[in-house]
Amino acid sequence: MSTLTATAVAHPNIAFIKYWGNRDDALRIPSNGSISMNLESLATQTRVTFDSHLPEDIFDLNGTRQSGPALKRVVSHLNLIRGIRGTAIHAHILSENNFPTGSGIASSASAFAALTLAVTTALGLQVGEKDLTRIARRGSGSACRSIPAGFVEWNAGETDRDSFAFSIAAADFWDLTDCIAIVEAAQKKVSSTEGHSLAGTSPLQEARVQDAPRRLDMCRNAIQTRDFAALASILELDSTMMHAVMMTSTPPVFYWEPATLNIVKAVAAWRKSGIPAAASIDAGPNVHIICETRAAENVAQRLSSLPAVKEVLVSKAGGPTVLK
Ligand code: PMV
Repeated sequence: MSTLTATAVAHPNIAFIKYWGNRDDALRIPSNGSISMNLESLATQTRVTFDSHLPEDIFDLNGTRQSGPALKRVVSHLNLIRGIRGTAIHAHILSENNFPTGSGIASSASAFAALTLAVTTALGLQVGEKDLTRIARRGSGSACRSIPAGFVEWNAGETDRDSFAFSIAAADFWDLTDCIAIVEAAQKKVSSTEGHSLAGTSPLQEARVQDAPRRLDMCRNAIQTRDFAALASILELDSTMMHAVMMTSTPPVFYWEPATLNIVKAVAAWRKSGIPAAASIDAGPNVHIICETRAAENVAQRLSSLPAVKEVLVSKAGGPTVLK
């Protein structure tokens, strides 16, 4: 082997039913299943070049050479795939996000989805979609949901083999938009990897996990029947349940800022007045407002006029991870 290269593009996703806590931290087998929507306008593009002359792996992100934990995480994902291929050749990884760096938008899902497809392709491995999702999952749990198209379910499973993601509807099946209200661009203080390991310390996690199949059914049905009212109520409940677990972990994790709650309340009032919009929050203070696309311009304008909102990013449902 001399040089082998491939480029892949992946979108981040927003979970309607959230993943929080693992049955197995090392293999990232989640405690519960989850459902998400890929975000078309946001993307990570990653080029991988394996070169037998490289003495070590190199990782450049948005033009900056990476070291420390960021490099280590990428190298361990490379090692996983090199192990499957049976090679020790090093790689140069060149990754760019089209969304503002440090906007507070989690990029690990699109990062590990793009990395998985680029690395397996560059190494000449023939990997089907299901197995790609299993490999991506090992880099970042939510990355498995960025591999398939549109609206995606992650079957929690119990082992490495049966924990995988699949598309439940194409991106154009339902015209939904995510308006992301950025209230704080700083990096989150508690990483999701650390947060997952704390989930089991909350007395509420067991109830949250037990009830997950019911919420998954409601969410899947809402998508399949394009029932926005049903989707709105289950995704808001699910997000609040996850944050209740976070806030009651030992030590507790409070991702919300005062502005976060203000937005959640504003969105509830807008919905009451007939605007099809609902709020969901990941491991940070920013708020994802899922709405029917016909209401997106109105929602984005209303969000922009709230004093604590620094920026609003807008994205429709997106496709799968692809080669470029
Ligand atoms: O994939 P991770 O380890 O970054 O975890 C993602 C966790 C949440 O974004 C909070 C929820 C989810 O399902 O995406």
